[in-house]
Amino acid sequence: MRASKRKPAFKIAVLGMGHVGLPTALGLAELGWEVIGADDDAQKVKLLEESKATFYEPDMQPLLTKHLGHKFRVTGDVGKAVADATVLFVCVGTPQGQSGKADLSQVEGVARTVAAHLNGYKLIVEKSTVPAITAQWIKRTVIRHAHIARGNGSGAGGNGFESVPLFDVASNPEFLQEGKAIENFFHPDRIVIGVDSERARELLEAVYRPLECPIVVTTPTTAELIKHAANAFLSTKISFINMVADICEAVGADVESVARGIGLDPRIGTQFLSAGIGFGGYCFPKDLRAFLLLGEEHGADTSLLREVERINLSRIELFMAKVRKALWVVSGKSIAVLGLAFKPRTDDIREAPSLKVIDCLLREGASVRLYDPKAMANTRRELPAQPGRVTYCQSAYEAAEGAHAVLVLTEWDEFRKLDLKKLRRALAVPVMVDGRNLYRPDQVHKAGLEYISMGRPGTDPVVRPISPARNAERRRMPAVAAGS
Ligand code: UGA
Repeated sequence: MRASKRKPAFKIAVLGMGHVGLPTALGLAELGWEVIGADDDAQKVKLLEESKATFYEPDMQPLLTKHLGHKFRVTGDVGKAVADATVLFVCVGTPQGQSGKADLSQVEGVARTVAAHLNGYKLIVEKSTVPAITAQWIKRTVIRHAHIARGNGSGAGGNGFESVPLFDVASNPEFLQEGKAIENFFHPDRIVIGVDSERARELLEAVYRPLECPIVVTTPTTAELIKHAANAFLSTKISFINMVADICEAVGADVESVARGIGLDPRIGTQFLSAGIGFGGYCFPKDLRAFLLLGEEHGADTSLLREVERINLSRIELFMAKVRKALWVVSGKSIAVLGLAFKPRTDDIREAPSLKVIDCLLREGASVRLYDPKAMANTRRELPAQPGRVTYCQSAYEAAEGAHAVLVLTEWDEFRKLDLKKLRRALAVPVMVDGRNLYRPDQVHKAGLEYISMGRPGTDPVVRPISPARNAERRRMPAVAAGS
């Protein structure tokens, strides 16, 4: 972080205290801003007022404890938050609507609330993931409703600003990953600022001044497109490596080595090349669909994105085929499931691939023994315990007790550190189907388990541990012959 210059005096309101809003609000408070967090969910506000984070995110609770009542306060009165602040970050939900397009009713609701409380200049900053041209709609809605609130019609016909205090709408897409949101906030790769006025640009640059990273300044619509394209590209990378994993399996190659072998090329990069049961969560599946539909609406060829989506959806069936092949008969079997969250370091289970796998297992007549380090309470709400059918366990070992196979569905560090021999002793049948390639095959075999993973030759001991010294030596060599 840069040494902060004297801060301009204005308050920030963050509207929506969800997975984007709360980490953003606390990050801004830590940067020294006075932040009002607003949400119309009274229960959420009550918990936050008691300094209880409403979801699990590493390093978030200490920031809440530190800033609550000082730099950060919470309110259920969104209108008052709008009236009290100058910069308004819109972080409300944009869930997938029936048609697959984003449901923007909460964004529209915020625009109307802003219109009703325009008591001076406001900078409305969209941070929620929204389809391109939403900023234009926010602007239009605020003008329209500000006029209605002032009793002078919709403002249509004029330039729209007569008698309405000045405001700007900017797009400042977030790139926070769940499980790393706080870390990402303080160490962004870049900040994208989509503005159409100097005043808006200066304000947003001032907000983020303490953070050192490249800033991309562009128009609101281009900023919206950057967000669409970023998530679509990352999803594409995942589906690509999953397709490669299938080919690896067919020809006896190892997708982990392929990912490393291509990823070390900086033009490709090593991240988001983990093959497995596909991407889930609140963002990728819905954002991909929204982008695809937006493109189609405007006549663009989005068949690439359709394939990305199709490959992702097919991962569950592909994984289930592995389970069936490993077990022969699924019905009547007890299956240990390690991992429920859609990814590690979060308790979020929205669109989690694990839940789709569990649903298939139950429909095929298996019973499940579930364990996750953080996502048990959320899963229990969706899928209550059922004696003899759905059992929640206190540890991975307890889940394995008497099971006919263990499935790994989320790559928690806790699972990497498991004593695999102990796990095998707990199982009735020593079979592991790993949907996240968490272990080396030789490591699992040594513990006495049959091991089926994704895109790797299951039984060939192809992955050999290399000593750190040998590794360093390899890196110095100009060319590395495979298997040398
Ligand atoms: C994603 C983006 O990474 C963020 O930059 C963005 O801000 C966020 O969406 C959003 O739009 O709000 P997130 O959904 O929190 O973040 O999680 P990711 O780490 O991107 O993982 C998404 C899914 O892809 C997970 O299910 C994960 O297991 C899966 N994944 C990820 C893979 O299957 N393979 C990989 O190599 C990487």
